[in-house]
Amino acid sequence: MMTLNYNNPDLSTEERVSSLLSLMSLEEKIGQLCQSPMLEYDSKKQEYLSQVRSGLVGSRILADTAWAGNAPGETVDPEQINEIQRVAVEQSRLGIPVIFARDVIYGQSTVLPIPLAQSCSWNASLVTDAYRDVALEASSLGINWTFAPMMDVVRDPRWGRVIESFGEDPLLNGAMAAAVVKGFQGDDLASPGSLVSCAKHFVGYGASESGCDYDTTEISENTLANVYLPPFKAAINAGVKTFMSGFNDLGGTPVTSSKDLINGWLKKDHGFDGFVVSDWGSISDLHHFRVARDEVHAAAMALDAGVDMAMTSEAYQDHLHTALEAGLVTIQQIDDAVSRVLTVKFEAGLFEHPYVDAEKAQLCQRAPEHTNRAKELAQQSMVLLKNRDNLLPLVQNETKVAVVGPHAHTQRQHLGSWCLDGKSDDVVSIYQGIKDLIGEQNVLTEYSALTDEWVESAHRADVVVLCVGESHRSSGEARNIAELKLPSGQEEAIEAIANTGKPFVVVQCGGRPMPSQAISRHADAHLMAWQCGTETGAAVADLLFGRACPSGKLTMTFPKSTGQIPIYYNKKPLGKMRDFADYRGYKDVDRAPLYPFGYGLSYAKFRYSDVELMSVADGKVKIGFTLSNLSPIKATEICQLYFSRAYSSCTRPEKELIGFERVDIEACSSRHVEFEVDIDGLGYFETIADYVNPKSAVTFLVGPNSDDLLPLECTSSQLYQTEVN
Ligand code: GLC
Repeated sequence: MMTLNYNNPDLSTEERVSSLLSLMSLEEKIGQLCQSPMLEYDSKKQEYLSQVRSGLVGSRILADTAWAGNAPGETVDPEQINEIQRVAVEQSRLGIPVIFARDVIYGQSTVLPIPLAQSCSWNASLVTDAYRDVALEASSLGINWTFAPMMDVVRDPRWGRVIESFGEDPLLNGAMAAAVVKGFQGDDLASPGSLVSCAKHFVGYGASESGCDYDTTEISENTLANVYLPPFKAAINAGVKTFMSGFNDLGGTPVTSSKDLINGWLKKDHGFDGFVVSDWGSISDLHHFRVARDEVHAAAMALDAGVDMAMTSEAYQDHLHTALEAGLVTIQQIDDAVSRVLTVKFEAGLFEHPYVDAEKAQLCQRAPEHTNRAKELAQQSMVLLKNRDNLLPLVQNETKVAVVGPHAHTQRQHLGSWCLDGKSDDVVSIYQGIKDLIGEQNVLTEYSALTDEWVESAHRADVVVLCVGESHRSSGEARNIAELKLPSGQEEAIEAIANTGKPFVVVQCGGRPMPSQAISRHADAHLMAWQCGTETGAAVADLLFGRACPSGKLTMTFPKSTGQIPIYYNKKPLGKMRDFADYRGYKDVDRAPLYPFGYGLSYAKFRYSDVELMSVADGKVKIGFTLSNLSPIKATEICQLYFSRAYSSCTRPEKELIGFERVDIEACSSRHVEFEVDIDGLGYFETIADYVNPKSAVTFLVGPNSDDLLPLECTSSQLYQTEVN
């Protein structure tokens, strides 16, 4: 058969892949399935480059530790990337480019809010635009592939990795994940400003038992199908080109060896045509889990399940040959994996533009439009939880403000734990942001870590901004906490400021929902500032002084106490005691959260009214209502639509989010708002393969959050236009 020239960009990707595959040796094929970290690059350069020259390194992960940003790892060096790439392209036999990967989770030089914060904006289009900026900055440095978005549904804030998630709701997680994929991959994956993105961690990792990272996950098929898989479906629909299999054991099967989920649900049933990479060492873990007799069987199980590339390559590099010789895998399986990897490399344009322009790279880092967008997203990600007697917004110029507390001057913390390349010095601290806005003459502060110094400062001010919360070291991978409580000493610090009698705002920073008795009891106002990236301080100042109006709404329930966990809004109906009003769930605390999913205040007061069924036609139902802004300021309200079925063939949540919209509304005005819903979307999975939507009456619910809703009953005949008994 004539061998087509795979370097000819005029050929189809399929032709180029098959042409190249037909020329590859077994070693070169297995090499494409290996992603290696490079520890001590300089000292081991020659050894490493000779592996690249032999075609044994299909990918390189720009990380030298598996600690997910928790330890300062190696930086990105465009010259080093070019050096490696030149050997691959110009000195190896077939010239296949290496694909360079890095965890660009929520920022490069410009660092966005952590994903859990971003999701509180409910603003998918802004997230897409912000990630476009990140993709430009990262790809210009030579990074081709990133391991994001993470779309693990989370219900347990003890788990450190909630920072990377988009919260507890499948629909919102999916919408945000799709937004990130579109931002990273753009309209043209081959364009130099795009990054190959990665849907992770497939699947169920967020359900790690006891909130303990890497622990087992017990998820029923029904819950897997209705809660944990839908965000991954959304990512496939958005065109994500890679998936990452997780660390977790799922009901007896480690997901990295799950043929049903990877080759079955993902590749066969949902037509995923990209490739799957393992998580760091998750193939070797199969031997550790004792479901693989040895490392060779572990490699064979993973490839057989559909894992195409091994992150930290020892699993495939060292054992796939043996597995093939032993008949544990077939050359067809290897060829399929290699074809998937090569397809993504061709589609990413690596054969056409394998090198990076180091000079040009610096030009786009932290471009003003990037930092402006990061600030806008930070403003929309922060959530106003309390504002007693409308203390906020503070009045500029007439107010002497004391900015104190453990997070008044911090910078690194606002970058969150999963930040490899952001620089602490680039972060605008809360103090700096307020000072820049209202002038040094109006701001008091104390650099001291001593509460009595803060108190002294408070006494001299008209109002206090007390900045508390966790460090970035308390959340992120392998950083779980057993008790939801502020770092020691902070409850007392809040009490001490309260005892001054001064009006005070608490700005809470951190990577997870975190209740505080002292804040609930004493603070006049409470802003959840999360870890909002390089523009944190500027965004806090704009919100506190009314240059921006808070609009953020929680995407993860705030528990009252650790004992309530798992706690989330879309719970199934309660059994027996539900009708006894004094049944509280616990003797010591009721079942209600501190703040529910979807909750967040504005400086404007809104009213929802006149909910009505507008139309049912062409398989869609339209629900309309009136939103009124009762305040003399323009504002944005995140309107939410939930639904509840009267009948289902299996238990379903009492309410499920099915629509949301950010609605801008003028001062003292009303406007009609409509949601259009696919009636088919009211269904659910009975099993992983069976999606059903039995005819049923449905109650739609609109409102500002999952607890404060106006109902609209719809009979099944209205919805289905046929009578059902
Ligand atoms: C880590 C994480 C994963 C990350 C990968 C590479 O252990 O689980 O999310 O992308 O390894 O750093």
